[in-house]
Order: sequence, then structure tokens, then C-alpha cells
Amino acid sequence: MSVNRMILNETSYFGPGARNVVSKEFLKRGYQKALVVTDKSLVKAGITEKVLEVLDTEFLPYEVFSDLKPNPTVESVKKGLEKFQKCKADVLIAIGGGSVIDVAKAIGIIATNPEFSDVVSLNGTADTKNRSIPIIALPTTAGTAAEVTINYVITDEKSVTKMVCVDPNDIPVLAIIDTELMAEMPKSLAAATGMDALTHAIEGYITKGSWVMTDMMHLKAIQMIFANLEKAVNEKDPEAINNMGIAQYIAGMGFSNVGLGIVHSMAHQLGAVYDTPHGVANAVLLPYVLEFNGEACVPKMEEIGRAIGLDMDALTPKEIIEKVVQAVRSLALSVGIPEKMRYLDVSKEDIKMLSKKALKDPCTAGNPREVTVSDIEKIYEKAY
Ligand SMILES: NC(=O)c1ccc[n+]([C@@H]2O[C@H](COP(=O)([O-])OP(=O)(O)OC[C@H]3O[C@@H](n4cnc5c(N)ncnc54)[C@H](O)[C@@H]3O)[C@@H](O)[C@H]2O)c1
Ligand SMILES: [Fe+2]
Repeated sequence: MSVNRMILNETSYFGPGARNVVSKEFLKRGYQKALVVTDKSLVKAGITEKVLEVLDTEFLPYEVFSDLKPNPTVESVKKGLEKFQKCKADVLIAIGGGSVIDVAKAIGIIATNPEFSDVVSLNGTADTKNRSIPIIALPTTAGTAAEVTINYVITDEKSVTKMVCVDPNDIPVLAIIDTELMAEMPKSLAAATGMDALTHAIEGYITKGSWVMTDMMHLKAIQMIFANLEKAVNEKDPEAINNMGIAQYIAGMGFSNVGLGIVHSMAHQLGAVYDTPHGVANAVLLPYVLEFNGEACVPKMEEIGRAIGLDMDALTPKEIIEKVVQAVRSLALSVGIPEKMRYLDVSKEDIKMLSKKALKDPCTAGNPREVTVSDIEKIYEKAY
């Protein structure tokens, strides 16, 4: 028997229009001024505005920082921190996908733990002493679940590495999952971020540290994503979009507390080296990694099959793995994800270098099957 820890948001709201609570919560918590963290595309698309108009209705003071890129960098964090310090805010409101929420987390942590202002020393499990500046997170993708996780991912441009920073002090105090903010995602983004959520749910379900409470969350998330992703992406069905917003959050409640596996270790390298969108990298690699990992978790693979409505009776372990892998592959294809890594502008000659880096990624420790650098090379090659 082991001791398990769960860390979740203090408060969270869900559903279309949930953003309207932001001003009430701001006032109730006695905040004076916000730095809104978002990105330029979201400002241009009018999505940031949907939240700003709620703040404007109550004349709440804020300034906006939007100078960051997807797969955000140390430089993005430093610029945001400078803006935060200049504008003298006491709360961060993050409106965006994982990139935006992760930058807000890094700003919030450094603002209260200035000894980490080089950013790179936050890599891994940094020993911060103080809670972050309070963060209110409104995700616009479905998604990374960065609004409920204790992680943030920042690219160190110098070492060309995605730093996975794990720190309970960074969890947003308030998460507002307003699925109207996700409704206008372009199809490719909805597909990629939805497949990221599925990867979280599957890797979290089979990871080494999984236990009954996170199993409950991950299995439910897997079932919901299989039932809703295609409709949300291809038909823009409002109920399916809402269900995807909730499902990705449920997956986040789980994986944030137990970790992931080598789909993420390998995907992080594609993000760091080629700027591949995180969800696309995961989606392409997921079936190949499951083929490898399956033998270490056959009973759980069988449960995944049942959760998504497959007939799993009287199958050999090999058939169980194949059936689940096939279902994952079909789902990815149905939402337009490419089947092979070679379509992602990845150079085959880099596989050795990528494999060495992936082995060192913090997510590797959670993988259900022991893995060597040559195993990772073989998986990349198969996926290529
Ligand atoms: N903190 C965590 O726990 C965690 C978990 C998984 C991934 N991540 C990280 O999150 C980042 C990826 O985040 P993401 O996948 O949410 O994408 P993103 O935040 O990188 O956004 C990708 C693009 O989509 C745009 N966009 C976002 N929402 C939109 C909307 N509703 N409509 C139109 N355009 C929209 C953005 O402006 C951006 O250009 C990666 O850096 C990844 O490593 C973090
Ligand atoms: Fe992810």
C-alpha cells in the first residue's frame, strides 16, 4: 500500500459562458489589478476580448501581455516577468492554450521566488518556497489541462530542450473552463489538442504511479474523448465541444498527480527541435508507443478497449494491444492527424540525437515499461 497525493484547483467552473464569473471572483478575492497573459493570435481572433469585456463591465483594472510564441521560450517568460513587475499587478489572468497558461505559471512563480529568475533553474522539480502570484486560468484549447496541472513547459532556446517544470506552488487558484472560448478553434488545432488530451488520459492511466483515484479519472476521460472528439472537430457539435472541455480537464486532474510516459518524452523533443505543435507530435507517436508499452499493461489495455465500447472478450494479449492501438490510430486519422513523423518536417538523421534527449526527459521515469535509448530510436524509426 502506498501513500498518494492529490493536488487540484481551489475552485473551478465549467460550461459555456462560465467566463462571466471572472469579475465576481476578482472582487471577492480582493485583487487590485491583473496582468492578462494571452497571445497575439488570440487577441486577433477576438477570443481574449470575450474575457476582457467581462472585466470591463465592472471597470476592473488590467494590462495585457501577449508577446509570446507557441511552445514558449525562456525569453517569453522574461519579457512577461518584466511586464508584470512594471505594471504592479497582484493577479495573473491567463487566457489561452497551454503556451499562455504555462508562461503565466512561470511568471507567477518567479515573481514570488526571485532566486529562480534565470528561468532555467526551474527545470524539473525546483525547490520553490512560495506560492505563485494567484493565477486565474481560462483555457482556449481542449487541451493541455494546464489550468489544473502542477506543471509548465518552457523551451530553453540555448540547450534546445523543453523544460518540464513540476511545482505544486504553480497551480492556478481558479480555473474557468468556458467552452465557448474553445468553440472557434480551427479544425487542426481542435484535433491536435484533443489528441494531446487523449495522450494524457492514456499515458496517465498506464503510468507507473497510477492508482485507483487517477484510474477513475483517466478511464472516464478516455471514454469521453473517444465519444466526442470526432463530433467536436468535424461537426463542431456544441455538446461535443463542451464534453471535450470537461474531458481534457478530467485527464489533467489525473496525470498532473501521477505523471505520463515516453509519448510525451519523445513529443517534447519534436516541439523543442522543430517547433512541432505539441498535440500533433503526441498524436503521431501515441500508437507506436502503445505498441511498445502494451505488453507491460495488458489488463489496462483491455479496460481501455471496454471503456471505448470495443468487444474485448476472448482475445490474446497481442490481440488486445492491436485492437486498442488500431482504435487510437483510427481516431487520429478521422480528425486529420498525419500517420507518420516524416510528414512533420522531421529529419530522419536526427533520430539518434532526439532519442538521447527523450531518454532524459522527466516523463520517461513514469513509463510503464523500462526503456533504453535504442528502444526509443526504434519507436521513432517505426513512426517515421
Ligand atoms: N502545463 C501542462 O501541464 C502542459 C501539458 C501539456 C502540454 N503543455 C504545453 O502546452 C503547449 C501547447 O499548448 P496548446 O496545445 O494548448 O496550444 P498553444 O497554446 O501552443 O496554442 C497554439 C496556437 O493556437 C492558438 N489558439 C489557442 N486557442 C485558440 C482558439 N480557441 N481559437 C483559435 N486559435 C487558438 C494560439 O494562439 C496559438 O497560435 C506546449 O508548449 C506544451 O508543451 C503543457
Ligand atoms: Fe501534453
